[in-house]
Amino acid sequence: MIITKPVMGWNSWNTFGENINEKVVMETADFIAESGLKECGYEYVIIDDCWSLRERNAAGEIVPDPEKFPHGMKYVADYVHSKGLKFGMYSCAGTLTCARYPGSYDHEFVDAKKFAEWGIDYLKYDYCYHPETTYGHVVYKRMGLALANCGRDIVFAACSWGAENTKAWIKETGAHTWRSTGDINDSFASIKHLAQDQLKVMEYNGNGCYNDMDMLVVGMRGEGNVALTGCTTEEYKTHFALWALMGSPLIIGCDLRKADEESMEILKNKMLIEINQDEAYRQPFICNNRRECREERKLDEPLYKHYQVDQPVVARFLANGDIAIGLFNFEDRKCSPFTNLDAFGLGECTGKSLELTNVWTGEVTRVKNGLIRQELEPHSCVVYRAKVVDAE
Ligand code: GLA
Repeated sequence: MIITKPVMGWNSWNTFGENINEKVVMETADFIAESGLKECGYEYVIIDDCWSLRERNAAGEIVPDPEKFPHGMKYVADYVHSKGLKFGMYSCAGTLTCARYPGSYDHEFVDAKKFAEWGIDYLKYDYCYHPETTYGHVVYKRMGLALANCGRDIVFAACSWGAENTKAWIKETGAHTWRSTGDINDSFASIKHLAQDQLKVMEYNGNGCYNDMDMLVVGMRGEGNVALTGCTTEEYKTHFALWALMGSPLIIGCDLRKADEESMEILKNKMLIEINQDEAYRQPFICNNRRECREERKLDEPLYKHYQVDQPVVARFLANGDIAIGLFNFEDRKCSPFTNLDAFGLGECTGKSLELTNVWTGEVTRVKNGLIRQELEPHSCVVYRAKVVDAE
């Protein structure tokens, strides 16, 4: 197994877009190694689109842009490795990447071999400009095989945003992660939209191939390639809690060299990272009180349709028997999302209850009367690590 947990790291796209170069990558690697982020688990330093020349060379190889990467990719990979970190790259299953640089279509085995020679540990594989004459599952299978036979352990991070019902075939391709949402931007509207989209495909997440909700915008504060309105600290906390609890890779997208203290604290939240990286890696589930269901569920209908998606309660069973429980308020007014012990199978007859540790404050409380309910400010959340205890 190349990975057994969602990837943690940093990716250039959200902030730098086309303005990527070796200096940014190497300084970011320095920062991750020296700021404590590495100890938190952040490991992969990933270059996104726009790293190559616009044309392949006469031998049919992709060539790193000498202005952006004057020493070539092996040099950068060696540097990142010297910091005890891993190095990631980007290509695309189409003839061109999304920003119209050469894609790997019809060059999959040549490119995978080159990536292995350079010392790449991760490949994000996009889906723009794919020929109409083939299918997603075929081109992802081809790169899956190319990577699995390239002689190096390379994480295969598929990025087809759910197109062509990706969830149904992606595990067949050998992908380790799959982009289960569209592209993020630095606004709460985008965070809410991606989280609600993710509620529809949460049951596909789990060991073998992790749902990837896209890179984090925590700390961008409205600056950079996918900047929009920016978010408040409270909104970034909600964003990070959702991605951690829902089991997404945690890939930072801000310019770390300029990140503010509050954002760094969010990115380093130990309890949320532990939940995200839990070794059992069970799929998350939505567990608002069923009484909120508006109508009876038809057997073939997805469960999420019957829950309050503006105030979702999301949970995951953890390896040591604890439960991670997050209550989220996506609305623009104060709300009180709730669930109850029955949602976890802990009916009164069990004689059990839950002791809740708040992951942000460390405060410990107990569930009373079987109800877990919290009044929340707009766009905020509370997440608990819940321990099964005897009812009082
Ligand atoms: C697509 C991907 C993004 C990013 C860009 C690069 O939109 O979904 O994450 O990689 O391409 O062009």
